[in-house]
Amino acid sequence: MIDFNKAKFFNEPFNYFEIDNLFDEKTFNKLVADFPDVSKTESIMGGRRSLRKEEDSNIMQKSKIWKSFYDFINSQKTLDFIINKYSSDLKKWDSNINDKTSIKDDCFTWIDWSIAENGYVREPHCDSDPRFWNFVIFLNDKDWEGGDFVIHSSEKINYFKKNFWVKKLPVVKRVEAKKNFGVFFLSTPNSYHSVSKQFNTNEPRKFIYGSISLKGKTFNKMYVDNPNYFKVILELLDETPEILRKIGRRIKLLLAINKTKHNTNKEY
Ligand SMILES: [Fe+2]
Repeated sequence: MIDFNKAKFFNEPFNYFEIDNLFDEKTFNKLVADFPDVSKTESIMGGRRSLRKEEDSNIMQKSKIWKSFYDFINSQKTLDFIINKYSSDLKKWDSNINDKTSIKDDCFTWIDWSIAENGYVREPHCDSDPRFWNFVIFLNDKDWEGGDFVIHSSEKINYFKKNFWVKKLPVVKRVEAKKNFGVFFLSTPNSYHSVSKQFNTNEPRKFIYGSISLKGKTFNKMYVDNPNYFKVILELLDETPEILRKIGRRIKLLLAINKTKHNTNKEY
């Protein structure tokens, strides 16, 4: 369904590849026609609405073409391609994946269908372990500002934590949405990416995000060799504003619950 041989491969700042004209025209049109309605789902990440395969099993029953796509991704052939292509990098990050890893017994595949509207933004992050291969496939041309998939360098990082909320990671590339175009990447501890804030949206950005994960921890190496521990502490301090935001949200919630209780008591 997808010919990985026509990809343009990159290995800096992490391993990824891009494929233009990902699907043949007929297949692409069918995928677009069967794209599920996600407009009623909750808006997250500032302006993204998405539906997971698990949330609506009908998608696969109703659409043969999405079922074929899922089966293609969730196949031993695709997994073997990833393992063969990236065996040395999987070793470098001390991963628990090897040539005996089975898609059926050891892995699970995620897909979500998403639309992004004004306000959608993501801080620089790596996807959670145990994901080890991710992709974003765009289904329409860019008709908004911002909303780009941004690839970051981790050259100054000592400890590969999941998110960087404050520290600015150098931008290596900005990938703009384009219909029938996909970016696939090895989701290693250094695969930092973000989404620039989307605004002036004329048509929502329509895309699917997917991944293959191990059932269990994938990567064991989270530090650079000989880390500078002072910098590690600074990198961990980057979490402070987010921790404070979470505490603030919790306090607001508790106050709102208390207020509701107080008002309810007054009624009796
Ligand atoms: Fe991500």
